Amino acid sequence: MSSLAKTTAVANTHRVMAFINQAGGSCKTTTAAAFAGLAAEAGLRVLLIDLDSQCNASKICGYEWLPGVGRPYLYDLAEDHPDLKANLDRRTVFEVLAGEKVPDGPGKQKKLDVPMERAIFPARYRVSPDLNDHSPEAFAPVPNLDIVLGSELMADAVEEIAKQEMGGFWLRRKLKPLIDANQYDLYLVDCPAALDRGLSAVMVAAPEIIGCVTPGGKEMEALVKASFSMEAVRNIYDGHDVFPELVGIIVGRVHKKKDGTVNRFKGGAAAKRVSDLEEAYGSVVKGMIREDVRVGEAYDQQITLSQYDPTSEVVADYRAAAVSLGIVAA
Ligand SMILES: Nc1ncnc2c1ncn2[C@@H]1O[C@H](COP(=O)(O)OP(=O)(O)OP(=O)(O)O)[C@@H](O)[C@H]1O
Ligand SMILES: [Mg+2]
Repeated sequence: MSSLAKTTAVANTHRVMAFINQAGGSCKTTTAAAFAGLAAEAGLRVLLIDLDSQCNASKICGYEWLPGVGRPYLYDLAEDHPDLKANLDRRTVFEVLAGEKVPDGPGKQKKLDVPMERAIFPARYRVSPDLNDHSPEAFAPVPNLDIVLGSELMADAVEEIAKQEMGGFWLRRKLKPLIDANQYDLYLVDCPAALDRGLSAVMVAAPEIIGCVTPGGKEMEALVKASFSMEAVRNIYDGHDVFPELVGIIVGRVHKKKDGTVNRFKGGAAAKRVSDLEEAYGSVVKGMIREDVRVGEAYDQQITLSQYDPTSEVVADYRAAAVSLGIVAA
């Protein structure tokens, strides 16, 4: 499937952006993955980082998990596929966070540090229509896009962070070698809803925070809380060059009219909330993304939205939002 996208890149120094909202289902993963796809098509080297134990970003990038097993199909397939053997040495973001226990003499174990590099996989999109086909031939590479594989074990991330000295710096510390080596132009961090204290580690690593909301819930309240968290993080890490900033709000699943403007009458209270958000946050609102079944379809088929239907209106919405955040050029 080739892309018709005419998007071109603008950024030439690396950026780290995190997609947050403590409300579940607020389009964080959809938005992070949509931007990742658009930026990669525009020629930026993109790393999407999946911090969520649901591993949805990993799934969109072609790596589905065996439920309850704690590792993707890929590992099981690797034994039979010589070209996948190298993947047996790969890890997930959880080992990057927590380190890896290895035997160290009889009855003893030691913990090894795992660099982020080891959890990076090249993003793939599904070319086989058979969703149960997990063979390497079922996928083709997505140029310029890599994924740091998520893990079910990230449900325990907060405890792991608490165990570590300066745990709040774990993500920043792990990204640093990649940034120093100029490996990527854009780092996009897909956060789980319930990140609790793990959120400060994200804010320490990502100067640019994107609040993701839908017009359906208590999102305004959640955004206000996020703003407090950012201020607290700036204060706690005063002197450590930590300045998280709410640079954008993306409103997903909005009802739009045929001309692309927000339908303020459809959806009643939801439409009113969109207006309230614009009033409260003004130009920080960088995008209104329309409700579209293609989002779910692309997700199920493990393909980025802009590859699935490059000329669709929902992709145009995401492209406009990416332009207004300066990720890609108009
Ligand atoms: N523009 C859209 N139109 C239709 N459906 C959408 C749209 N954006 C997102 N969705 C759907 O809404 C649901 C939630 O989206 P998503 O997974 O991106 O949210 P999330 O904030 O990452 O959720 P979680 O907190 O569980 O990680 C998904 O089923 C997704 O397919
Ligand atoms: Mg998600």
